[in-house]
Amino acid sequence: MSLYGMFQRKGPSGFGYNSTAEDVTAGADLTGRTYLVTGVNSGLGAETLRVLVMRGARVLAAARTVAKAQAACDAAGGDAVPVACELSEPSSVRAAVATVQALGHPLDGVIANAGIMALPKVQRQHGYEMQFFTNHVGHFMLVTGVLPQLAEEGRVVILSSSAHTMTYPEGVRLDDLAAERGYAPWKAYGQAKLANMLFAKHLATRLPKPGQRSTSVHPGVIATGLARHMNKGVQLLFNGLGPVFALKTVPQGAATQCYAAVHPDAAAHNGEYFANCNPKTPSAHGQDAALAAALWDKTEEIVAGLD
Ligand SMILES: NC(=O)c1ccc[n+]([C@@H]2O[C@H](COP(=O)([O-])OP(=O)(O)OC[C@H]3O[C@@H](n4cnc5c(N)ncnc54)[C@H](OP(=O)(O)O)[C@@H]3O)[C@@H](O)[C@H]2O)c1
Repeated sequence: MSLYGMFQRKGPSGFGYNSTAEDVTAGADLTGRTYLVTGVNSGLGAETLRVLVMRGARVLAAARTVAKAQAACDAAGGDAVPVACELSEPSSVRAAVATVQALGHPLDGVIANAGIMALPKVQRQHGYEMQFFTNHVGHFMLVTGVLPQLAEEGRVVILSSSAHTMTYPEGVRLDDLAAERGYAPWKAYGQAKLANMLFAKHLATRLPKPGQRSTSVHPGVIATGLARHMNKGVQLLFNGLGPVFALKTVPQGAATQCYAAVHPDAAAHNGEYFANCNPKTPSAHGQDAALAAALWDKTEEIVAGLD
């Protein structure tokens, strides 16, 4: 536990900053349930995979390549099925959807966990800024593709971040998703994480079955592979001193997404944002239903135009 963590209290859910993925799933028997999780080969995704299979679930474990996914499944043990899904490559995402369809299991949860952060220089993929494309468009394609398989009470959980507040003043630059008008690494990350949140929010209004749920989460700040694009000095501080003084551990970081995906009490929430295993009010942009709807329409248009 970090020094900061020592002073944190639990919230109304009975869980809080220091709760771990094992804590929030304690007593849960997930035998017979199936979860699709992205980014399972590292950080929060690996811990989510480990804990879900430990509780008896079958996990369709997605990583960029089948070799990475297989290695993660081997490390986790249990009933884990590797799925290749390179989120920045639409053909790979479509193939992942087809794999999930062919496996044929109703999905009790989809945890859209994979992500990249703060690329120092602008990169584009299929004409769109890379963080927006990978974190949002890739997951939009995957989640909407497998939606017909979501179980009656299935849950979609999208990894957002408190960094959604760091976005551009207009929230999501729907008229400049290639970052032609300028690029700032953290604003672009903030925009992508706001897009993740707005996707979960709008999806909640379109879920086909009344028992289904869609939420977004901030996992906390955790030293993982996500920091790989930060400069070396900052990385050293972040990974070295951060965990001692201020950061969550990986098991604590994976707790909020496991809470939202699995805990019975989280079924009371749809379209909301969680942090520290409790609902939290996001930024004004994060509450903007019109922006969420406009982003959905824009993303459908983008996806329709992809090879
Ligand atoms: N750590 C934090 O402090 C923090 C804070 C707020 C939000 N989050 C969010 O939490 C989520 C998990 O992050 P983490 O901290 O666990 O980071 P991580 O250790 O870097 O894991 C990220 C995962 O995403 C995968 N990924 C990246 N690009 C991909 C792509 N194009 N296609 C498929 N998979 C891809 C990575 O695969 P490779 O290893 O193959 O690249 C890795 O498995 C992210 O969405 C992040 O934005 C994290």
